[in-house]
Amino acid sequence: MKRVLSGIQPSGDLHLGNYFGMMSRMIKYQEQNDLFCFIVNYHALTTIRDKDLLVSNTLNAAMDFIALGLDPEKSTFWIQSDVPQVCESTWLLSNVVNLGLLDRATSYKDKLARGMTANVGLYSYPILMASDILLFGGEIVPVGKDQKQHLEMTRDIAIRFNKIFGEVFIVPEPDIEESNQLVPGIDGQKMSKSYGNMIPIFGSEKSIRKQFMSIVTDSTEIDEPKDTDTPLFQLYSLFLDEGEKIELAERFKTPGLRYGDIKKELYECFWAQFEPFREKREYLSNHKDFVIKKLIEGSEKAGAVADTYLQNAREAMGLNYGDIRV
Ligand code: ADP
Ligand code: TRP
Repeated sequence: MKRVLSGIQPSGDLHLGNYFGMMSRMIKYQEQNDLFCFIVNYHALTTIRDKDLLVSNTLNAAMDFIALGLDPEKSTFWIQSDVPQVCESTWLLSNVVNLGLLDRATSYKDKLARGMTANVGLYSYPILMASDILLFGGEIVPVGKDQKQHLEMTRDIAIRFNKIFGEVFIVPEPDIEESNQLVPGIDGQKMSKSYGNMIPIFGSEKSIRKQFMSIVTDSTEIDEPKDTDTPLFQLYSLFLDEGEKIELAERFKTPGLRYGDIKKELYECFWAQFEPFREKREYLSNHKDFVIKKLIEGSEKAGAVADTYLQNAREAMGLNYGDIRV
């Protein structure tokens, strides 16, 4: 049984890209592995500066995950800031990280290019992420392709720490699924909370329908074959098995297909897959105390694991001087 671990930022409503890129795999992993999953609200501080928004996003992300099938009894599920030991280990790890490593981070460079101010939190984001993974002994880390470099940095940090101070941390393996690497948004760019092109999983029926009907298409005439290398085809494929994908490709190639009909079908597929989770989501939003209780229990389990790794790191670095309490 492997320890599978990943986190997601509570930076807005969760969408189909998050679901197919990471969440659905996490939920499957819980059956046969020791799953550790958390909502990274410390990381979200790099972009959110509104107390109420962060609180509601954090709880919503947790409720979304549970509604979609993450079982807090089978896995360890918590809110990052409830295990503040990650901040101490971020400091310990930051002493083996050269500036060059952080300077190369493409995600940081992208954010600067989009006009964000470079503060230290944003710059050292990858060290906090490494700490999230190493402090809980994560062995396998399921993420979308955009997190690949952060995972490589985590591995570098673990290897470097172990080399200098002795074998304390497990060097994790990334788990990136080839087929759903990048789910397109309704405009054909990567689906993202920050691009306004997403299809939320738990939005209102009307807004979700509107998003599906707005998926960008080309001006190919009805009596011409249609291109399958398009967001409409790719989004529909997420809901199909291999045989069904081949059938859909045939329909695209056969003249007579109307994009509007395909969009309606796709909306029906979405609805059939996600409607059953809406009732549970509704229930959870009316029972927030239950959710919070489960998250606290999760943080206690996670905290116990963190304490062991942290003590080993402190010991290895020489911070536990002549401790008479042992
Ligand atoms: P966003 O870009 O919407 O802010 P996050 O950065 O919070 O999403 O990503 C959370 C998880 O979902 C990560 O593992 C990320 O790789 C994955 N993910 C996000 N968007 C997509 C997408 N369009 N396709 C596939 N995976 C995605
Ligand atoms: N940086 C990740 C993202 O934006 C979120 C994250 C934080 C994470 N800590 C993590 C993912 C640890 C995996 C493991 O998606």
